Amino acid sequence: TVLVVDFGAQYAQLIARRVREADVYSEVVPHTLSAEEILARNPAALILSGGPSSVYSEDAPRLDPALLEAGVPVLGLCYGFQSIAQALGGTVARTGSREYGSTRLEAIDSTCTLFAGQDVDQVVWMSHGDAVTDAPEGFAVTASTPGAPVAAFEDPERRIFGVQWHPEVGHSQHGQRVIERFLREGAGLDRSWTTANVIEEQVALIREQIGQHRAICGLSGGVDSAVAAALVQRAVGDQLTCVYVNHGLMRQDESEEIEKAFGKATGGARLVMVDAEDVFLEALAGVTDPETKRKIIGEKFIRTFEKAQADIVAESRNDPNAQDVKFLVQGTLYPDVVESGGGEGTANIKSHHNVGGLPEDIEFELCEPLRALFKDEVRAVGAQLGLPEEIVQRQPFPGPGLGIRIIGEVTKERLDLLRQADAIVRAELTSAGLDREIWQCPVVLLADVRSVGVQGDGRTYGHPVVLRPVTSEDAMTADWAKVPYDVLSRISNRITNEVDGINRVVLDVTSKPPGTIEWE
Ligand code: XMP
Repeated sequence: TVLVVDFGAQYAQLIARRVREADVYSEVVPHTLSAEEILARNPAALILSGGPSSVYSEDAPRLDPALLEAGVPVLGLCYGFQSIAQALGGTVARTGSREYGSTRLEAIDSTCTLFAGQDVDQVVWMSHGDAVTDAPEGFAVTASTPGAPVAAFEDPERRIFGVQWHPEVGHSQHGQRVIERFLREGAGLDRSWTTANVIEEQVALIREQIGQHRAICGLSGGVDSAVAAALVQRAVGDQLTCVYVNHGLMRQDESEEIEKAFGKATGGARLVMVDAEDVFLEALAGVTDPETKRKIIGEKFIRTFEKAQADIVAESRNDPNAQDVKFLVQGTLYPDVVESGGGEGTANIKSHHNVGGLPEDIEFELCEPLRALFKDEVRAVGAQLGLPEEIVQRQPFPGPGLGIRIIGEVTKERLDLLRQADAIVRAELTSAGLDREIWQCPVVLLADVRSVGVQGDGRTYGHPVVLRPVTSEDAMTADWAKVPYDVLSRISNRITNEVDGINRVVLDVTSKPPGTIEWE
């Protein structure tokens, strides 16, 4: 394992991802761990991340020199680079010349370990106030920029390397190559983190954890729960039962597709489909307030899931040979684990995660086979397990479904109207090849608004739908997607012609912030 020591950078997770893209396993650890604790984990190499601090500030996280003396290969980036300089007797000066953003290198040693064969002519991503002015003894200076006379150094004997810039961000031209050179040449690490290995390893771990017991898993229709379930199914077969709650707020044919696709990919996993449409629609009758809708849907979801669980447990009571249902499978991902404070122990599951929140008094142990994986790795595992493209590349869809895309009361008729319009939008975006470019495109029915239109010889008085195509990296911020006019025009023509009751199509051109992606 390559450990990324997080000095408080927003880049630490990104560094771990880049290392994994070079097929070497990597995890993030906080800088608050002691050197002994870090070394006790037997790292194959260490990468010291950037950080927001100046090495001069009082509360700056300190680098324990013990980490540099253990014989473990080390790469320092930005703040990590300066910390190495400071710890080993180099000079870090407050030059006053800040470099921020794209910066052109001035000189590079194209024979050194990290930059072998590279041109000087490259742009790297910088973000620093202080600068290293003298490398520590024994180190060769291997690059410089106008604002950083010592922009990189290395001591291949001691296997310690550092660069002032951020090779992990996409704006650094040869960044990935620098990281790969460190891993292979600097640290002597082979490619070992591949999708096939991940699957093999996880399957073995799951078998060990679950043993002869049984497990259940709530399928939400999303990527994470589907991949988690498929992995567990591969490991323990019919000891796993999946539960899918159809709340009636799914898109056209969605539940059937999930059932078919999941069953096919897993060679017929045990899957219980709970049809709870009536329960949800009854509970939602007359409700228009968005938060109330969300609460009702969340609550009903949990109760329905609990009942299905109880049924599964109860069924086996009559069977003297049946093992107890001891495990609940969750699709928790690595970023959730890091964000909730750490590697070990049970993840602090976000309330929206997966099945829309867990009952508080669960009596199950958790099985979380995706805890070590980033989203793109989950997709790769899913694809290799044979889950179809529609599931593996699925765009995000909110747990409360179309219930929060009808502005006004949610009724069966309105849902059917929205489902027709939404199906057209999805089909047209797919056939225009825009699925990867667009993060998601909610279609929102303004159910309490009517406007006058004209169609054929007659006057219409119908509802508008709003198209909300967005681009995003992580849904925290988003921009409205510039969908080509001809695609918009086809969507608009088809909806107004084919969906009886919708006579207007409008486009939402608001970024997030200030708008959210969903309307409710
Ligand atoms: P907003 O509307 O907050 O949405 O900008 C951000 C992302 O989260 C999705 N979303 C949800 N996902 N349960 C979910 O599983 C929810 O209650 C929920 N609400 C919003 C939304 O589709 C977008 O991708």
